[in-house]
Amino acid sequence: MSSVIVVKSPEEARALCDAARARGERVGLVPTMGALHEGHLSLVREARKHSDFVLCSIFVNPTQFGPNEDFARYPRDLASDVTRLEGAAASAVFAPEVSAMYPPGDETRVRVGPLAAHLCGPHRPGHFEGVATVVTKLFAIAGACVAVFGKKDYQQLAILRRIAVDLFLPVKVIGFPIVREADGLAMSSRNAYLSTDERSRALALSRGLSAAARAFTAGERRAGALRGLALSEVERAATSVDYVTVADADALVPFDDGADVGKRAVIAVACRLGKTRLIDNLVLGEDAPIALG
Ligand code: PAJ
Repeated sequence: MSSVIVVKSPEEARALCDAARARGERVGLVPTMGALHEGHLSLVREARKHSDFVLCSIFVNPTQFGPNEDFARYPRDLASDVTRLEGAAASAVFAPEVSAMYPPGDETRVRVGPLAAHLCGPHRPGHFEGVATVVTKLFAIAGACVAVFGKKDYQQLAILRRIAVDLFLPVKVIGFPIVREADGLAMSSRNAYLSTDERSRALALSRGLSAAARAFTAGERRAGALRGLALSEVERAATSVDYVTVADADALVPFDDGADVGKRAVIAVACRLGKTRLIDNLVLGEDAPIALG
């Protein structure tokens, strides 16, 4: 017995949100690409705290994938996602086809600013424009709402907060902490790609971030020293490293290795285990240390 309504068209999704608001309910929005795990479900539960009607979107957005990325093989399992969402008390699922989100003639894109200049930006050209475009469409469909995003995608969250403010959208963006496996690995739909060996090597990300966090707690403030601690763990395990960067936690501008990071800074990692690209981060001076199991 399904209690979650599944709709496919933007018009139906908008009608559901309009009807909820007409009943006096607050609308919550949780955008996802599916292959849902506990991290996603936590966002739905968080949205529930701030709203009465939670719409979860499931859409593998082609415009945010590069030509050599995993769009075609990205895991898709709508039936099991819907079952999970029922368990997390979502109200409705919006699962459009690509042709519904990008109908013939579609050509408008949301250009992102300097927040996309560092970290993942240079490694994934066009990625954040694709994210910004699809999420702006989702914001337009949902209307006035609270939208919940994970801090796992720290840069994405910063960009989406900016969009809501800059475009005067009636959306309150909420960030939710990273949900991790018992051994510290940040949950990700892409973890499903990892072999047993890669899965154990993947612990280098959380281990490296933790090493930097411990040093920060012990008083280390030199960006290069903090970065080096994380980098040495990640370099040892990863197939290749895209970046290990210590940056301003708001503007996302990297600190020079010689700089003092002050009271608060984000340390972020992106690397490959085999073909799988993983990311993780921690806000020094703000986040609790990662439990490493
Ligand atoms: P996806 O990777 O499916 O993630 C959907 C949401 O879940 C994002 O806000 C992401 O930050 C959050 N999330 C993923 N893993 C998490 C974890 N371990 N803990 C907490 N939150 C986690 O991010 C996207 O999809 C897309 O770019 C999207 C915003 C849907 C636009 O297409």
